Amino acid sequence: MTSEQMTTDSGTDVASDRVDGLVNRLTLEEKIDLVHGDVDPDGIATGYVPPNERLDIPSLSLIDGPLGVRAGDGTPATGFPASIALAAAWDPELARDMGETMAAEARALDQDVLLAPGFNIVRVPQCGRLFEYYSEDPHLNSRIAVGSVEGIQAGDVAACAKHYVANNQETARMEMNANVGDRALRELYLRAFEAVVEEADVASIMAAYNHVNGTHATENRRLLTDILKDEFGFDGFVVSDWWATTDGPAAARAGLDLDMPGATLPEMAPETNVLYRTIDTLSTFEWLSPDDATELVTSIVGLESSECRVHRSEKFDDDLLQAVEDGRVDESVLDEKVRRILGQMDRFGLLEGEQPDGEIDVPAHHERSRHIAQRGTVLLQNEDDVLPLSTEDLDSMALVGPHADEPKVGGGGSSEVDPSSKIGPLDGIKYRVDGDVDVSFERGGPPVQGGDDRDVTVWNLSAETVADSVFGDDDDPADVSVAPAVEAAEDADVAVVVVQDAATEDFDRPLSLPNNQDELVSAVAEVAEETVVVLRTAGPVEMPWADEVEAIVEAWYPGQEDGRVVASILFGDAEPSGRLPVTFGERPGDYSVNTRRQHPGIDFEAEYSEGVFVGYRHFDNADIEPLFPFGHGLSYTDFEYTDVSVESGDGPTATVQVTVENVGDRDGYEVVQAYLGQDDPSVERPPKELAAFESVELAAGEETTITLSIEERDFAYYDEDGAAWTVDDGEYTVSVGRSSRNIVATETITVE
Ligand code: BGC
Repeated sequence: MTSEQMTTDSGTDVASDRVDGLVNRLTLEEKIDLVHGDVDPDGIATGYVPPNERLDIPSLSLIDGPLGVRAGDGTPATGFPASIALAAAWDPELARDMGETMAAEARALDQDVLLAPGFNIVRVPQCGRLFEYYSEDPHLNSRIAVGSVEGIQAGDVAACAKHYVANNQETARMEMNANVGDRALRELYLRAFEAVVEEADVASIMAAYNHVNGTHATENRRLLTDILKDEFGFDGFVVSDWWATTDGPAAARAGLDLDMPGATLPEMAPETNVLYRTIDTLSTFEWLSPDDATELVTSIVGLESSECRVHRSEKFDDDLLQAVEDGRVDESVLDEKVRRILGQMDRFGLLEGEQPDGEIDVPAHHERSRHIAQRGTVLLQNEDDVLPLSTEDLDSMALVGPHADEPKVGGGGSSEVDPSSKIGPLDGIKYRVDGDVDVSFERGGPPVQGGDDRDVTVWNLSAETVADSVFGDDDDPADVSVAPAVEAAEDADVAVVVVQDAATEDFDRPLSLPNNQDELVSAVAEVAEETVVVLRTAGPVEMPWADEVEAIVEAWYPGQEDGRVVASILFGDAEPSGRLPVTFGERPGDYSVNTRRQHPGIDFEAEYSEGVFVGYRHFDNADIEPLFPFGHGLSYTDFEYTDVSVESGDGPTATVQVTVENVGDRDGYEVVQAYLGQDDPSVERPPKELAAFESVELAAGEETTITLSIEERDFAYYDEDGAAWTVDDGEYTVSVGRSSRNIVATETITVE
């Protein structure tokens, strides 16, 4: 923020003299034109506010986010690994680095706002956008989110934190009402938003599609104005999710500042959108009402009809203008929105046209993408140290999997990036072994629905996709049997099975692997000498075969460098240094959100009745053994912890010290985790909660002493009755460990 900018308690006077001057000179119509989007004449931006030529105000361009830059005209950009892979590195610096790199790519396309990061709490592992989010834990979530926002904004691009708030599922995301208590809201769902405002001064925040406690997120005055702007002190602008706004004047009064995209999807992408043209035609000729036409066409292609609300576009245009003219919305309310938007443009030098040049799709960025994916890869299981593989010990490898020859760049939806180069595991492994190992490849099963083409979403409704949905896809290959894969595995020294899901925005996902992939793994494991499973999933999946295989590697969606990443981990050129940012339960019923009332909800009401017991907080509380716990991840080397000490500080704070030594013979990364729990709480609290962590790189034989700070907020719970963060006196246990279930030392401290 520039020094001239000021915030008052009400958050209303956020502007420099220059911005105030502009606001004073703008006509009512011109102000209206600055608070809603329009079609980008260059076809690149995801959201675009046209310039005001009279007053020399440049345009404002917003672009997706968050796995790279998604240019509307198909300009190639670096495909980064999924956000959950980034979070799995437990390293805010890495998030900063990825943010800064993406910002450089956004600048290369003259884009001003990157619609990233997204960090809704992983409340349900079924969430279709899990791969775009970070964690089930608010502390880890906050640290990675702050790193990401800082990085993007250090790259001279405004960040947009999304989706505010409680947008924790994709099923009926536009109608859904999240009934969530204040305690869970504060302790889990708002935490990272609070952090990016207070610590990283985030420029913008996206209001979500869903309702929260009965009020739409774009019209929720308590959330947007009372909490976000007044209490947290947010002085940037709130932008609607795309076509989320349903009542312009109500949203304007509640605190929404910018309505996006202000145009219909057919206007934005006329050539691809057969779906909307069909609805349009049916209703224009009055063959069906618009609603019936929407219902019919969407049911044919398998979309929720709510996804087609996209024809609404005038919410902050005619609707708001009218409301200001007839006094339903005061013009000062509109002025504040303009001030907030221009204030951020001023802050980032956009009013001066000062943005530095950027670079896109360059080798240095591809390398960063690869490094982040490697850092985020989690070695879940490694019996008998089967991994890393060595070309010296192997003559042959059977690579198996329906898509083991294709890269898994990302998931489906608005985060899809189009990289210029990408590589799948088959090629990556072949390059790596360079002829020293005989690598065979068998699919062993039919394509996973969507494969790399993704599912049907509003974003990629080409005429072909719709035609395939209606008439069937003649190109569908016949069922592929497991037999050739089993045969190949039998003959090889090692079998590597690459399995995956097909998560996408707009739909939640099942927790079981699609098609016959579970049977495929078991069938291969039964005959193979050694079986290594590489998972490319958005998050947790069931693994009924976990005991049958030697090694399991979670590679998430690795991005464009997929094949090189997988090969480097398998052969030990890179360390699998990730730790799980989410709990992997054995079966769906093990998670705390396991009834229809909770997810996906009944009659569009989702009850957050589990309160704060989400993720490991629940597994610990209910004493359920997870398949792989939160914080878990093995290494190719070994670490030893000694000299753990915990000292109480001033007030309810503590300092933890621990010496970590790499006692193995390889370099590696360790993530030291400190959890805090109140021994005899007056309210129900999770047995322990992540309070601090640090990721360290240690050479073989190296040791270091780590210092972790536990802050007052970590001791506190949110007292709903008193509406305040509260720390009770009493005893607290600090647990230092390598995962939430691998605690190496505990110490009790007293808060008085
Ligand atoms: C998504 C946002 C995205 C926007 C623009 C929406 O469907 O929820 O995350 O930024 O589209 O593409």
